[in-house]
Formats: sequence, C-alpha cells, structure tokens
Amino acid sequence: MERVAETLTILQPEDKEAIDLPRTSEDELATGKKRLYIESYGCQMNFADSEIVAAVMRNAGFATTSSAEEADLIFLNTCAIRENAEQKVRNRLQHLNALKRRKPDLLVGMLGCMAERLKTKLLEEEKVVDIVAGPDAYRDIPKLVEEAESGQKAVNVFLSREETYADIAPIRLNSNGVTAFVSIMRGCDNMCSFCVVPFTRGRERSRDPHSIVREAEALLADGFKEVTLLGQNVDSYKWASEDSTESVNFAQLLERVALISPDLRVRFSTSHPKDITDEVLYTMARYDNICNYIHLPAQSGNSRVLKLMNRTYDRPWYIEKINSIRRILGEDCGISTDMISGFCTETEEEHQETLSLMEYVRYDYAYMFAYSERPGTLAAKKYTDDIPEDVKKRRLNEIIALQQQHSAERNRRHVGKVQRVLIEGTSKRSDDFLCGRNDQNKMVVFPKGDLQKGQYVNVLVTDCTAATLLGEVVG
Ligand code: SAH
Ligand code: SF4
Ligand code: F3S
Repeated sequence: MERVAETLTILQPEDKEAIDLPRTSEDELATGKKRLYIESYGCQMNFADSEIVAAVMRNAGFATTSSAEEADLIFLNTCAIRENAEQKVRNRLQHLNALKRRKPDLLVGMLGCMAERLKTKLLEEEKVVDIVAGPDAYRDIPKLVEEAESGQKAVNVFLSREETYADIAPIRLNSNGVTAFVSIMRGCDNMCSFCVVPFTRGRERSRDPHSIVREAEALLADGFKEVTLLGQNVDSYKWASEDSTESVNFAQLLERVALISPDLRVRFSTSHPKDITDEVLYTMARYDNICNYIHLPAQSGNSRVLKLMNRTYDRPWYIEKINSIRRILGEDCGISTDMISGFCTETEEEHQETLSLMEYVRYDYAYMFAYSERPGTLAAKKYTDDIPEDVKKRRLNEIIALQQQHSAERNRRHVGKVQRVLIEGTSKRSDDFLCGRNDQNKMVVFPKGDLQKGQYVNVLVTDCTAATLLGEVVG
C-alpha cells in the first residue's frame, strides 16, 4: 500500500514567519499524489482546524508536505482578530505570488477567519487566491479544489448552526506526540463589542460529548498524555441528546474526560468570567489530572470600559471569580488573562484600574494587546476609536512591564518545590535539556538524563526566569 506523507507545517502563534519543518522521508514517498502545504495563523482553534482540513484532504487523495516550494496546493488558515494578524497574511500572499509566477498551476486557498470576514472581496483584492473557504466549509474543500483546478475561482463561506466536525479524526503529525488539542465547541454567541469572532465563526454549538471522550481515548491509546479542550467560551458548553434524556454541561464534560485515565492530563481554554461556575472549580479540585490552571480573560479592570466592551460582568464580579478560584483551588492555581489597552474612550484613570486589577490578581501569565478596530463589530459601529496609537502603545507597555514583574514573582513561588512535569520534548536552548509543563502550565527545563518525552517526572525547581522554571529531576 502506498504511504501518504502526513507532515504538516504549523506556525506557532508567537512566530513571525512560517517555519519550514525539515523534509521527511514520507514527503519523498508521496509520488503520484498532489501535495498540500498548510500554514496556520491565530488561535489554537485554528491550529486544530488545520488538522481537520488535513484529514479531509487526505481522504480526498492528497498528500501533505512540509515544503511550500514542493506543493501543488497551498492553504493559509487565517486569523482576523487584529489588523496586524491580517497584514501578516497579506505579506505572506506576496511571497506566494512570486511562487505562483514560477509555478502557474499552483493553487492558493484562504481558509479561516480572514477568509470568512472578507469573502469574495479577497478574490478581488488578492489575485493570487483561487479558493476561499470559511471555518464551517471544510468538508466542502475537495470540491472547491476541483472547481479551482478547472480554472474557476471557488468560494464557500456558509456558516452553519450544526457543524462540529465531530466524526473527523484530525491528523496530528505536527504535534509533539504528547499533548493535543480537542475542539469541544465552535463559534461564539457573546458579542463582545471589540471582537470579530462571532462574525467569522458563527453561532455557538457544542460537540457531542461521546465523540469528545472517544477522541481523547484514542489520543491516550496513541501515546498522548495531555488533552486541551478548546472553545471560545468553554463554560457555556451545553449538549443534550435528541430525546433529551441526557444533558451535559462543561463541569460534567470535564469530569468525563478526567475519568478516562489518571495518566491523561486535562486542560481547557478559554473560560469566560460571566459563565465559569463553582461546579467547574470543584470538579477541578476533585481530580488530580485536571490541571490547576485557568485562563480567565479580564480585558479591562474598569467597569465602565467592560460595559462598553459588552463583557457583561464588572470589576467586582471578576474579582469575586478570582476569590472563588483562590478559595476552592488555592493560592497556587495558575491564572492568566487577556488585556486590551486603549479601548474606545478609555481614560488614564480607567487604564490605571487595569493595572490595579493586575496588582490584585497577580497573574501568572497574560496575553496583552493594543485595541485594533475591526470592521463590522459593535464597537466599530457605535464608538470612535479615539485613543491615539502612541497612547495605546504606552499603556500597553505599562501593562507588559507590570506583568513581567508578576510572572517573575509567581514563578519564584515554585523555587525550592518539587513539581510534577509531563515531558514534552527537548529544550529549545540545548539538546542536553528536556522541557515540559507543570500543573500550572509553566514550562520547566531540566537536564535530560535517561528520560524521554511522554513521561511524568518530579522536578525540584532550583531557579527561574519570568518565562521558565529551571530544575533537576528528583524521581
Ligand atoms: N474567546 C476568548 C478570546 C478570543 S480572542 C475570550 O472571550 O476571552 C483572543 C483575545 O484577543 C481576546 O481575549 C482579546 O483580548 C483579544 N482581542 C480580540 N479582539 C481584539 C481587538 N479588536 N483588538 C485587540 N485585541 C483583541
Ligand atoms: Fe470574542 Fe467575546 Fe466571543 Fe471571546 S467571548 S470570542 S472575546 S466575542
Ligand atoms: Fe483569529 Fe479566528 Fe482564532 S479571528 S483568534 S483565528 S477564532
């Protein structure tokens, strides 16, 4: 039987440029098949979606390659969250233009959120693009490719109320073989006023819990040791069987996945302050294999700004949630956030309240952004993007500087303590060191010894930076 090359090139969210993975021998074996190269931008959900797309395309007879130069078909799975996310993709298209001039039969497809946002406009603006497919159109991609092969431009940006791709087994060869993402829902119904996601990903829908558990079990059988359950707002996960005899909320789903095996770690992202319940926190406390870490984006520390953002909670409510986490899961529970600087009409005092909220919570980690107006969002329609760029930047820098201090301080808490670490692979800095995460999602680096990825080890933390814990294995 002919083997199919399955290597995917996936871009990590922080990276600025696509990284070409080294070519594998499988690449060479894929003779006779058309080759797909896929590159992902944006959030973890997009990365998970690329694995679905790879599976769909493999079923349609394509091989995947890790080299854009060798590909017959190139997909960019795009993000639209901020203007610079789209700019990055536009720049990449310039490079692909040059490639296509050398290889006129090459087809270029735009997938994901930017494709959904711009629809056919993309075809007008970017002549190099042949195919446009939104996040709910991935089953249709082989047909779109066929159309494009016959010389027509092909578009499907239909958003569905049901699609969850529950029956498609993603191709995971881009992963480290230890940790994997599992989508548990799609879309978002929240309508935060700054956010484009409800427009690019459509209505919220939850995936059948049985298919989620089956996927996690299959991952464990394949040697994976950690799953991250993904959704834009996991706390509003809600599924009911058609005859209404079975219903499952997020806490119950979390428990079902945790019960698969004590050896399978469970993480999840993203939690929403308006929806996270004590039931979720108590479930986390009950199971050692549910990691003690919550990503709970605040966006701002000021109640008036939160109202304008349509986040539907205020500062006291958010603080109450933090207090519940600390009460139920303890001071050591890892907490991270997203923060936006310079949202419409944000005053200096209101910005100070974001800093003071950070002082109160002392986050382990934060993703921090300057506000970027997105066309079509509520904020773009209702408010003026009136904070000058240099003020947004300065406020952002203050947020980043404070977070650096807190990250270092929170990391120092672990020094002198023994942490259970799941080894993910070799450290980027040196082949003589391994790295893996502790319960709180912090990266721990330690000497290699005879250990291998996929093992759990106890590491005594001896030192730290703001980003990493350093230590030695104690058994
Ligand atoms: N569903 C998640 C967030 C998804 S988007 C949640 O509700 O928390 C990831 C982050 O990007 C957001 O939390 C927000 O901080 C940021 N973001 C979204 N739209 C933005 C915009 N227009 N400008 C700047 N940052 C934005
Ligand atoms: Fe966007 Fe808000 Fe939905 Fe998160 S919860 S994806 S920020 S609309
Ligand atoms: Fe970007 Fe879409 Fe994710 S806009 S952040 S890829 S949901």
